[in-house]
Amino acid sequence: MSTVVAVDGPSGSGKSSVSRQVARRLGLAYLDTGAMYRAATWWCLDQGVPLTDHRAVADAVRDLPLAMGLDPEGPTVVVDGRDVGVAIRTTEISSHVSAVATNLDARTELGRRQRAVIDAERDGGWSDGRGVVAEGRDITTVVAPDADVRVLLTASQDARLARRARELHGTDDAAAISATHDQVVRRDADDSTVVQFHVAADGVVTVDSSELDLEQTVDAVLRVVEQSVGRP
Ligand code: DC
Repeated sequence: MSTVVAVDGPSGSGKSSVSRQVARRLGLAYLDTGAMYRAATWWCLDQGVPLTDHRAVADAVRDLPLAMGLDPEGPTVVVDGRDVGVAIRTTEISSHVSAVATNLDARTELGRRQRAVIDAERDGGWSDGRGVVAEGRDITTVVAPDADVRVLLTASQDARLARRARELHGTDDAAAISATHDQVVRRDADDSTVVQFHVAADGVVTVDSSELDLEQTVDAVLRVVEQSVGRP
């Protein structure tokens, strides 16, 4: 029996670390769909595609030679034979990625590929049919509304800002918070214009991680999985 776990949430909610740990604990594949939007952005910049040109971005994304490695112990992102796992995490990519995320044709294409990965993991794929934890902004609602388990991982804005500041600057002092503010709050505001990830859709279970550390949040999501499908 395969299990598909869909996890959505805003920046800094901890969803990537949590989803990866949940996949590892359950022996499932791990799909970071945000990394696909980042890889598409990296590709457009690499190919000299102007991000303001809607049609050119959509065409570039349609031809994007992307391979996602789904092992939660070491997920990989390869574009045109190049490992871009580090390159897609730069502030340059973070500040441009909304141009791709708000391009509806690019969303359709990346959503189609995400769906194909999820379907492949149900039948075989990296997980041998055990299933996948897929995380992003629209997995519970658009890409896999039929997932066996659907979770919205939230956290207060203060908690999310502090988390991202620690990740990016190694501290959550006032200067680091203010340097992070634009990235977290503005990007979520831009992305919210095309996809809704602040309120749980019908049937989606909300897990609030504001007061929880990583391990506690992983345990909370694992409890939701167990309540929904038993132990996969
Ligand atoms: O989670 P992240 O920061 O790596 O996501 C990168 C960008 O991609 C962010 O602007 C939100 C967007 N995104 C999206 O629109 N839909 C998804 N399913 C995943 C990410």
